[in-house]
Amino acid sequence: MSDTYSLTQYVDDLRTIVAETSDEDEIIRRVGPLAQRVVADKSWLQPKYYEADEEQGFAVHLLHEEPDHSLAVILVNWLPGRGTPPHDHGTWAVVAGIEGVEHNVRYERLDDRSRPDYAELAVKKDFAANEGELVCIRTGGIHKVTNETDRMTLSLHTYGMHINHTNRSQFNLDTNERKEFIVRVE
Ligand SMILES: [Fe+2]
Repeated sequence: MSDTYSLTQYVDDLRTIVAETSDEDEIIRRVGPLAQRVVADKSWLQPKYYEADEEQGFAVHLLHEEPDHSLAVILVNWLPGRGTPPHDHGTWAVVAGIEGVEHNVRYERLDDRSRPDYAELAVKKDFAANEGELVCIRTGGIHKVTNETDRMTLSLHTYGMHINHTNRSQFNLDTNERKEFIVRVE
């Protein structure tokens, strides 16, 4: 689609969707194509979105959140060879690729969740997310993202709630430790 579709229109449509349904599968199904429209129209991209966060490995730019932290729209750029630990989001997530290819690994939980600081994960699948493609994750879904290319990659992340306000988890595959995952936001 080549029509213009601004971030403002996108946020308006997100508000409409969550006002009309609380069904997470329906929200994801409706948000996905709209996120693809936003990333197809790259006119809103600003030079600052390409500024790297060397320490974190990925830079997080908050584009929108509601006053109660819901409907967070976040741009993330990823440095070559860098990425996240396995993590969940504590809310639904729709990620649309803007530039480059991001490597995703999806995990399932094997333990009975009886210990708050412990988790056993197993790889469920492994795939490359290209420009314009979607990665959609329900609440509780676990993944890890890495940039295995030699150039910065960019993607647009939309969450039901700002991810620093969901008490979400990161997982250590070597030690099976679970702890909170807070990211630095520009
Ligand atoms: Fe994620």
